[in-house]
Amino acid sequence: MRIILGIGGGIAAYKAAMLLRLFTEQGHDVVPMPTRSALRFVGEPTWEALSGHPVNTSVFEDVESVNHVRQAERADLVVVAPATADLMARVVGGRADDLLSATILTATCPVVFAPAMHTQMWENPATRRNVAQLREDGYTVIDPAVGRLTGHDSGAGRLPDPREIYRRALAAASSAGAALPDLTGCRLVVTAGGTREALDPVRYLGNRSSGKQGIAIAQAAADLGASVELILAHTEVSAPEGSEKLRIRRVSSALELENAVGEALGDGRSVDGVIMTAAVADFRPRSVAVSKIKKDPSADDAPTLELVRNPDILRGLVEAKSRGEHGAFLVGFAAETGSEDHTVAELGESKLVSKGADMLVVNEVGTDLVFGQDQTAATILVREAEEIRSEAVVGTKIDLARRLMTRVASHLNIGSRTARG
Ligand code: C5P
Repeated sequence: MRIILGIGGGIAAYKAAMLLRLFTEQGHDVVPMPTRSALRFVGEPTWEALSGHPVNTSVFEDVESVNHVRQAERADLVVVAPATADLMARVVGGRADDLLSATILTATCPVVFAPAMHTQMWENPATRRNVAQLREDGYTVIDPAVGRLTGHDSGAGRLPDPREIYRRALAAASSAGAALPDLTGCRLVVTAGGTREALDPVRYLGNRSSGKQGIAIAQAAADLGASVELILAHTEVSAPEGSEKLRIRRVSSALELENAVGEALGDGRSVDGVIMTAAVADFRPRSVAVSKIKKDPSADDAPTLELVRNPDILRGLVEAKSRGEHGAFLVGFAAETGSEDHTVAELGESKLVSKGADMLVVNEVGTDLVFGQDQTAATILVREAEEIRSEAVVGTKIDLARRLMTRVASHLNIGSRTARG
């Protein structure tokens, strides 16, 4: 892909150099387009050396090629990181007073803004209005991360990790032109990862869930505008960065996860959906030893583990819903291997019925299928009146996450908008 990397004049400009590297390492051709004030933070030689392209900031350079039009026409994606409040305001106003704003005004490809600024600037009504307008106009605006800012203060406004911007930018490019739901105003709870049930202070019973699918769902929902609480058990991959749209709560055991889901539901009135992607242990040791369980060196015997059932959290949510305690749309996940008598799809359908969830995503799992992989093959089963409808999805876990969100949105009667590009 040919990517224009717009760099606004903020201290986070140095992180854009790392973003540039991420793109070029994956074979993308990156044209850096810093504003004049960005060059006060990181100079031309850095951008030119890292990209192999000359740097221009004004439409009055390279005039004979009508540079802003030429660049915009050839680009597959424009990423602006950091996007300053001023730059976004200029784009909202349709200004074209430097090469970057003129290029954005001309571009028809997806444009992604990654804002970074102090919390007060981010929360100022003018910035909020501008961000809302950019989104309304079809641009992708990534919410800034919450954390340490320039100086000693911290809050919302930090430029997200370059890997996160990279992921979001490529996601925007791949969904260009697709009709995706607008989940603004929607509140979702997503669980992800595998629980661990302690045996003693050092050992636990766990499972092979990597957490990738649940994290992809939480991120896809937040990307589409939902407010997401991600309840994250143990994962193989690093946890995503939290933001205003994506709040993360870490848990370990099934009981902790149940408690966190209950707290996230609160009075049950404001959550629209719960997506139970986590692999929750069905059993836990009856008791947890206070000190490490020792082997007896003089004997060959081994301790016998006594297990007790964990609550089925999803079933509990279904029952609470039938008692009118909440109205959330309930999505379960099932990992099935199939058996001699039943196919994975059959097992999925009977699980949807027995669990009573509104929707079930069934994955076929085996030693090297699904768990820990980026690719997945799944069937989305949904109850519609007396019928069960199914849709097969084969692709990346991000593809499945988007497809699932589209299905969930249609059940929540949420409309879609077409992604720019
Ligand atoms: O019955 P099974 O474990 O296959 O169901 C999987 C679904 O149920 C997943 O959505 C999982 O998050 C949820 N689950 C649960 N509580 C359990 C076990 C599974 O909520 N104790």
